[in-house]
Amino acid sequence: MCGIVGYVGHRQAQEVLLDGLHRLEYRGYDSAGIVTLGKGPTLLRASGKVAELGEKVAQHGTADTVGIGHTRWATHGEPNETNAHPHQSGDIYLVHNGIIENYKELKAEMKEQHFASETDSEVLAALVHSLYDESTPLESAVGQALKLVEGTYGIAVVSVREPEKIVVARKGSPLIIGIGNGETIIASDASALLGHTDEAIYLNDGELAVCTADTVDLQNMSAQKLSPKVEKIEASMAAIQKQGYDHFLLKEIMEQPETLQSTLKGRVSPREHKAHLGGLNMTEKQLAGVEHVLIVACGTASYAGMLAAYYIERLNDKVTVQVEIASEFRYRTFHLPKKSVALIVSQSGETADTLACLREIKKRGVRTLGVVNAVGSTIAREVDGGVYVHAGPEISVASTKAFTSQVAAMVVFGIQLAQAKSTDNKAIPKYIKELWQLPAEIKKVLSVMPPQIEEIAKRYAHYDNSFYLGRDVMYPTALEGALKLKETSYVHTEGQAAGELKHGSLALVDDRFFEVMLIRDDELLDKSLSNLAEINARGGHVIVITNSDRDIDAETVIQVPTKLTLMTPLVMNVVQQLLAYYIAVARGTDVDHPRNLAKSVTVE
Ligand code: M6R
Repeated sequence: MCGIVGYVGHRQAQEVLLDGLHRLEYRGYDSAGIVTLGKGPTLLRASGKVAELGEKVAQHGTADTVGIGHTRWATHGEPNETNAHPHQSGDIYLVHNGIIENYKELKAEMKEQHFASETDSEVLAALVHSLYDESTPLESAVGQALKLVEGTYGIAVVSVREPEKIVVARKGSPLIIGIGNGETIIASDASALLGHTDEAIYLNDGELAVCTADTVDLQNMSAQKLSPKVEKIEASMAAIQKQGYDHFLLKEIMEQPETLQSTLKGRVSPREHKAHLGGLNMTEKQLAGVEHVLIVACGTASYAGMLAAYYIERLNDKVTVQVEIASEFRYRTFHLPKKSVALIVSQSGETADTLACLREIKKRGVRTLGVVNAVGSTIAREVDGGVYVHAGPEISVASTKAFTSQVAAMVVFGIQLAQAKSTDNKAIPKYIKELWQLPAEIKKVLSVMPPQIEEIAKRYAHYDNSFYLGRDVMYPTALEGALKLKETSYVHTEGQAAGELKHGSLALVDDRFFEVMLIRDDELLDKSLSNLAEINARGGHVIVITNSDRDIDAETVIQVPTKLTLMTPLVMNVVQQLLAYYIAVARGTDVDHPRNLAKSVTVE
């Protein structure tokens, strides 16, 4: 949450910073600001989106070549200009991601200090300033201040007195230092570095760096020098541009055939009926010994885990699978069986609760495997092994292509586990075949269905309430569909197991609701049709999404053309992604930047 950029080099800093903030806007879009240092400091801040800040920059352009910037997702204090970063204290300007938990205590100790904002970040700026005297270099004052702080931070700090440097530090909030030619670019997310450089240093927790145009000096919090590891950034500029689409959300839905192929490439072999994930760091013997799989995640990633659990279980009848929401599980007194392995699922690889769970699980001596999209992210770095899903940068706050790739990667894991346990698992070839066919099946849906779904979306866009319902594998798929609709269109939406409706929620069904039922042509088809009849009998307005060619009685039926049987949820999910997208467009919401949300949830 929140985005940080910094620049020190030979180019006009405001331009680089503003461009970086636009690219990081998906991380927070309540307010934004930049400060550059030259003849004097130029601090510009604006509430609202980065475009508002852009207008101020156009009026107050400078030729300064050093500066820092920030786009905010409000935690302490409302999203207005005063609370926007950078925060100033004397000569110091600071931008901050994370939360300073003891800011009230620190503030109380600085009695003489006037605070303009309600933020915890301004307190940190003041703390650095209070420790910054004539004989203290900026990095020492920052290092000393951070020793007094409890909480999480990724920070970038500049001083008018030492305008040639930017000091950065991290604990729990990502920071990356891009190494350019005579310039250094800092960002909380690699997307802001693309096009400037493909070489970067990923800061670890407890590290601080002094960045100038030509140097990066890395140290720990005790000021001991460290050797930085320079890594390659793999994403391309095209991946972070809309490329002709109106919204990133639609672009990312449409990309799924290709992104899914990247997930499966080199990992699934239909000829040999084999699946293999390279990075698990587990021997065949260790895999064969696994008796329990724990899956931990938040939001869409947790629904991906719930869906994958059905497949892992079915492929491995002697393995138990447990799926937990990270924000709850981390606080539980949990015990895991000895032969457990934990899958930590996260698109961003930075979600605070998921990361906290990972650390709790590691403390219990259980092997952790990441199912992560963002390369180099904190979760990817802290797990014992795992798999990158290779869906490419996901910019839309609503996650789509990452979900599809996460499920596919976990199914591959399930197959690999089954292979390790038995050389004669008859189910494996069918799973591999369907996984292999899945990108083409999704492509078929994406090439023929959007106009039909757009038309249906327009008819249902006026409803303020809805239910998403499904049984078996269509249940977690329904939960995901419900989340997609509510976050993009602000329609009040509940996802439910179809069989649960009559245990309470059926009481809500009336003309204020529409219902989306996901019905798969399987052994539970008749049970789902009974649930549908129960809603119809109460005057429901049901959209059925199905792969069945039975004559189904519903207000609207969307028949999904697919030859798959096992992997149908991922094909039908694409239909509900499109439905959510077109309803959001029809309702006129800010599709890529839903109100109150941000892409990467690094607060707890
Ligand atoms: O980056 P992560 O996968 O860990 O993020 C988890 C959730 O915050 C995320 O899936 C969120 O629910 C999305 N907005 C859903 O579209």
